[in-house]
Amino acid sequence: MQQFGVIGLSVMGKNLALNVKNHGYSVSGFSIDKPEVDALAKYEDKDLKPTYTWEEFVNSLEKPRKILVQIMAGKPVDETLQKLLPLLDKGDIVIDGGNSNFYDTNRRYEEMEKHGIHFIGMGVSGGEEGALNGPALMPGGDEKAYEEVSPILEAMAAKTPTGQPCVGYIGPAGSGHYVKMVHNGIEYGIMQIISEVYDVLRTVGHYSNDEMSEIFKNWDKGALQAYLIEITAKVLKQKDNLTDDHIIDHILNEASYKGTGNWMLEDAIRLGAPITVIAEAVLARFMSKATLRDDPEPKIDPEKAPKDLVDQLAKALYLAMAVSYGQGFEQLTMAAKAYNWRLHYSTIAQNWEAGCIIRSQMLHDIKFAYNADKDLPNLFKAPFFDKVKKENISALREVVKIAADAGVPTPTLSAALNYLESIFNPRLPQNIIQGQRDYFGAHTYQRNDRPGTFHTEWYEEK
Ligand code: 6PG
Repeated sequence: MQQFGVIGLSVMGKNLALNVKNHGYSVSGFSIDKPEVDALAKYEDKDLKPTYTWEEFVNSLEKPRKILVQIMAGKPVDETLQKLLPLLDKGDIVIDGGNSNFYDTNRRYEEMEKHGIHFIGMGVSGGEEGALNGPALMPGGDEKAYEEVSPILEAMAAKTPTGQPCVGYIGPAGSGHYVKMVHNGIEYGIMQIISEVYDVLRTVGHYSNDEMSEIFKNWDKGALQAYLIEITAKVLKQKDNLTDDHIIDHILNEASYKGTGNWMLEDAIRLGAPITVIAEAVLARFMSKATLRDDPEPKIDPEKAPKDLVDQLAKALYLAMAVSYGQGFEQLTMAAKAYNWRLHYSTIAQNWEAGCIIRSQMLHDIKFAYNADKDLPNLFKAPFFDKVKKENISALREVVKIAADAGVPTPTLSAALNYLESIFNPRLPQNIIQGQRDYFGAHTYQRNDRPGTFHTEWYEEK
């Protein structure tokens, strides 16, 4: 009998199956796509059992069965669950490791619970390489069922630099997939921030691709250490195999998306979460496809580039990245309240510390901030990040100014700056909006000097 089963054996499923097997567990694999099962059979490993029917797969697993479903999110997951249900026994555990929408996971969790099946919605991050060598895992659902599978998940997960596994119970129902959605929103934010920094470097600083690659490589050695910074250095360095140019100069500048970042924004709107950087990052992908492309490139005199441009950009990038993470955690705090989840933010930061796309040195500091105060209302209320803000905000202001002068758009860098200018500001001007609303619609307002709800009889001057 095999100890673990994987359904869906394309890149992610196959690598996750190999990962589990490499940690000493016997695994069965099944796919409705026969060539994928044949590819598994080629390993000729007794601990990696290829199965060709639903029945053969389910019957090959020891009870309670532990099954990872690693297929495309959406309808295929429901179809798979319908196929599995009649074959399973009460107490079996089914894990959905795809990028499912948390609403679907909430619904599936309830449906499966009615049949006595434990359903775990688990965010998985790290791409192909991570799946094989250690992904970040974000499991949500039944806690007892999680405890049952945790030895396997802990074995297969990435480890932080201090050896802790990048997996930990997130919370009930769809909370694991919610956390993965927020991970992807932060991912969109950091990617867009980096692209704006690249734009300032090339347009204002006139650096070559190789020079920029070196700049990112150096940044990756210090406080800015992050997987996305590391791969940016590599993307900038890569030569094209069709021309002699750098490949980056031939990649069409229209960003695609599968939509998990967009989902985060949808829920932010529902919750009223001010995730401005992530929102701008989502919209910047739309903008990249909508641009009319008929304006000449801005020409900036290299002499005009400030001598400390690279240092200023490093500071701005660092602070803006902190805002992207901070907004992600802010939305998690609001979601926990709205959906009645008890989320452990330091566990979430630890889950992201290695293995996943947004892994970085900064997440280590975020983990410490939430360890010190598990109810931290805002990341920038933590002494470490308060200092990060104070030390870097003038560089962020400077970079936004330089970019504006050069005609370089900075939707996320500006959003990060505006967020920091707003979030601690007791004098935001929305009293004007309340006055206008009450004027034209008697929508009422609250006062800052006494409790209650008020309406003014506004009079028109003759
Ligand atoms: C990960 C990634 C992964 C995927 C994104 C890409 O954590 O491993 O986030 O889930 O690469 O979904 O998303 P877009 O196609 O929307 O950019």
